[in-house]
Amino acid sequence: MEPTTIPKTEKVKVTFLPKETTTRVPAGTTLFHAAAWTGQPIESTCGGRGTCGKCRVQVIEGSTPITPADLQHLSQEDLTTGWRLSCQAEVRDEMVVQVPRLLTTPKTAMFGVGRQVLLDPNVHKVRLKLEEPTLHDQRSDFQRLKDALLEEGFAMSADLAVLRSLPTALRGAEFDVTAVLSGETLVAVEPGDTTGECYGIAFDLGTTTIVGTLMDLNNGETRAVISTLNAQAIHGGDVLSRISHTMGKKEGLEELQHLAAFTINGIIERVTAESGVPASRLYEITVAGNLTMIHLLMGIDPEPISVTPFAAAAAHGIDLKAREIGISIHPEGRVYLFPAIGAYVGGDIVAGLLATAVPRGDKLRLFVDVGTNGEIALGHEQRTVATAAPAGPAFEGAEISCGMRATTGAIEGVQITDDTVVLQTIDDAPPVGLCGSGLVDVVAQLYRRGLMDPTGRMRSADEVRGLVPDALASRLVNVEGVRAFVLATADETGGRPVVFTQKDVRQLQFAKGSIASGIKVLMNVMGVKPEDLHEVLLAGAFGSYIHPDAARIIGLVPAVALDRIRAVGNAAGEGAKIGLLSYREREAAEAMPARVEYIELSGREDFNDIFMGVLGFPPLDSLP
Ligand code: FES
Repeated sequence: MEPTTIPKTEKVKVTFLPKETTTRVPAGTTLFHAAAWTGQPIESTCGGRGTCGKCRVQVIEGSTPITPADLQHLSQEDLTTGWRLSCQAEVRDEMVVQVPRLLTTPKTAMFGVGRQVLLDPNVHKVRLKLEEPTLHDQRSDFQRLKDALLEEGFAMSADLAVLRSLPTALRGAEFDVTAVLSGETLVAVEPGDTTGECYGIAFDLGTTTIVGTLMDLNNGETRAVISTLNAQAIHGGDVLSRISHTMGKKEGLEELQHLAAFTINGIIERVTAESGVPASRLYEITVAGNLTMIHLLMGIDPEPISVTPFAAAAAHGIDLKAREIGISIHPEGRVYLFPAIGAYVGGDIVAGLLATAVPRGDKLRLFVDVGTNGEIALGHEQRTVATAAPAGPAFEGAEISCGMRATTGAIEGVQITDDTVVLQTIDDAPPVGLCGSGLVDVVAQLYRRGLMDPTGRMRSADEVRGLVPDALASRLVNVEGVRAFVLATADETGGRPVVFTQKDVRQLQFAKGSIASGIKVLMNVMGVKPEDLHEVLLAGAFGSYIHPDAARIIGLVPAVALDRIRAVGNAAGEGAKIGLLSYREREAAEAMPARVEYIELSGREDFNDIFMGVLGFPPLDSLP
């Protein structure tokens, strides 16, 4: 059966000189956006709105019609020699364009996985000393501001709330003000020069944990970071239990919306207190979250996401007023919600792909965010595919006899040496149970030491006696008729022993089998083999803690050389920061759903066979 994909429009090749960076973009994309996708900087202050006139490029091959903005900003000679404003010029056929050197050296900072990001936030502060109205100049306050901003290269629109504030704001400051723009939306008019105080917060809105990073938008510095549990957790640990809480009752949805906003506001209070930055100087937040979390934050019924055909109410990038969803930053401050690629490949993954640049790089890379849902992307600049594989809660320690969350006393690392077991626990506390990374470790170690066969069957003490030291063999026991391995005795824990059972192995096999199948499907769609993979990136709170070697021993990731597997930390949070600090990168995030093909796993005829094929563990001698 052919893979199910979202149809893509035909793509057209664009080459930017002098660096000769090349990309293929959907016809109709502007040259400015195509350049942003490749990371090629083009001068701009207006953010691609056609008002600053700075984004000139020269078309060397191909053509694009002259636009009204070109006529306004470029001379006749410029036009005849192929100069165009790149933010207005649409790509229709193959093109080669020359990009002038930047007039100033832009500020950049490193984020994500070695990403050098231009600091060019969506929020701009513009100092303006306006002419006061006279009988000869009776322009309205709005027009006066708009004209002055246009002279500085910024377009502006204002809604009623800001219009109401204008007469007092301008006259109270004797027309010496700082205008605050989010995109072209006027957020505030502040007295005097406040350009030095411009802040925002990037949020990673997780089902379990929410992380907020307060950033100085002038220099990209982090001023405070707070991580806290999502208060929605009282209504279930995963997205499906949250969705079921909303089903059939309006209050359920309202309650979850309120709890999301409550948690976010709690973080805002704490980061402002820690940094000394007042909430009134926070003009924008970005939020990267899975589609269910984003629906709940917006107060939109998420139920359709949970039932076939998994069609969400909205999956595009959304810009809205913070107060519309009860978020307490500047009263007219804005919220940007990352778009989703599919129902279960949400804005958190788009942000992760922004941080790692998988769909924009020239090398083939595999991105895996391991959790209750495994989100997977595979590709490079030419083509990237993505999918979601339901792994269940095993990686979070649920449904494992001695499983627990990654808190104090959780075993996060296991090493089975010649004759003993070395446990690494969180906070070095006595072992209480196994969290996800410990779970992956113990299975990998049992298999490597020959205490488990490639099908996942634990061997008995009798089977291994003589092959391994007695001290190890005697750890293989029977608990109520089920084979088990003693990780820590009652003496070692000071309480109950920690025992890992055959049933636990099966739970892990189903979880890893689901993710490994998703990876295999994507590799089949792309027609690639493990040796073609330049890198395997493990993302997410859990992915970052798995030992790469254990991940490949159990077959969670393809059999690649160890130095090709890399933990990339909280990629979603990094992407949220990048989107806050660079509107160009935000444009790249906006383009992600059109550039990354979503592959639906449900209903694929080959899925069962692939799943059965990856349930066991790969031969140890097959690992490079
Ligand atoms: S970016 Fe094109 S005119 Fe400003």
